[in-house]
Amino acid sequence: MSEFYLMNAVDEKLIPEASIGTVGHVEHGKTTLSQALSGKWTGTHSEEQKRGLTIKLGYADVTVYRCEKCEGFEAYSTSPKCLKHLSESIALRTISLVDAPGHETLMATVLAGAALMDGALFVIAANQKCPQPQTREHLMALNITGVEKIVIVQNKIDAVPPEKVKENYDQIKNFVSGTVAEKAPIIPVSAQQRINLDALIATIEQEIPTPKRDPKKNPKMLVVRTFDVNKPGFVPGKLSGGVLGGSLLQGEFKIGDEIEIRPGLKIERENKIFWEPLFTKISGLHKRNMSLDKAGPGGLVGLMTELDPALTKADSLAGSVVGYPGKLPSVLHKLHIETDLMETIIGAEESIKVDNIRTNEPLMLTIGTSRTVGVVTSARKDDFEISLKLPVCVEKGNRVAISRQIANRWRLIGSGLIK
Ligand code: GTP
Ligand code: MG
Repeated sequence: MSEFYLMNAVDEKLIPEASIGTVGHVEHGKTTLSQALSGKWTGTHSEEQKRGLTIKLGYADVTVYRCEKCEGFEAYSTSPKCLKHLSESIALRTISLVDAPGHETLMATVLAGAALMDGALFVIAANQKCPQPQTREHLMALNITGVEKIVIVQNKIDAVPPEKVKENYDQIKNFVSGTVAEKAPIIPVSAQQRINLDALIATIEQEIPTPKRDPKKNPKMLVVRTFDVNKPGFVPGKLSGGVLGGSLLQGEFKIGDEIEIRPGLKIERENKIFWEPLFTKISGLHKRNMSLDKAGPGGLVGLMTELDPALTKADSLAGSVVGYPGKLPSVLHKLHIETDLMETIIGAEESIKVDNIRTNEPLMLTIGTSRTVGVVTSARKDDFEISLKLPVCVEKGNRVAISRQIANRWRLIGSGLIK
């Protein structure tokens, strides 16, 4: 085998191939855990740093290594060298951690993040009674978006005595019984003190494998962020095109691919509002700061395009879908949704009954990474029709998370299927 081939083989392992989320109640230690695993603090926005709160989805990549000389959990780490044997470890794969916010007002961001997750680390702090409101609500978000591969991380075990850790462990077991997380392993850790992280990494490797992908499928990317990367005072003529950040759900993009972005641009002409898809070409592809020729699912991918960067400024195209021209689902302004409502709101401290959906009420829908508000035009017991403010690029059978405004806050009230 040539050296060149070997180098490429190693590089492949450094490219993110699966996205694993951190979800759970506010301040239970999701960002601390992503940092303990990746070495990177994901909260980079100034408001996040000021308030110590995660607001936007954060991304941090981690390469997982195994030492061939170590036995059991100890063999797993995020370091290329084994500290016990001082030998090189084998790179197993790179995962992207998608760090979700826990604050109750940021549920739509969690739902958008969950749409990209191949699996999740469900973080539950040992020093609070389980479940807390967003412990319940985030598990529901995983359920709605179909994230089935879950590892429960019982965090902050350093903050309470062992008997309290056990008591909390039993509460967690009890809480997940009968839910999608019933069989999920529970790994007690301290993200802050780095206790038991090797067991957690080994469990992630076992429970959340990289899904099998078919690179020949038509690519479909959900957009999370969009940017204008040009600095003020740029030299005209040297302007970089708009950048789209998100994750591919399927297929692959290559440099030079022609792409379509839906729903695209809102146009107002002659007192009419309509949406026009955008067409452009991929001029560059990035994952984990690496320039690639092609990119598939797993982790955040940055698409450099030939779009006017003014169009991608400040997340203006977040929530859109990217694919080959003519190969994307339709853009719909009206949806017919079959509903599955919860009995009570689970995301609030107090128990609030979920009433049936009514004609004329406003609802917020989250589908993939897009979030839209609409007004119900007709409602029955198990389904309703809604007219949307922002159209969505969706197809029949897509899952929808439904939220209703209660006391000035959007609360998850159930899920639905597009008919
Ligand atoms: P949001 O994103 O705002 O929901 O918070 P988060 O879940 O990301 O929590 P974050 O990592 O910001 O941690 C919240 C607080 O808990 C911080 O003060 C951390 O230092 C502390 N913390 C996190 N992990 C541990 C742990 O293992 N032990 C102890 N004692 N404290 C921890
Ligand atoms: Mg956080």
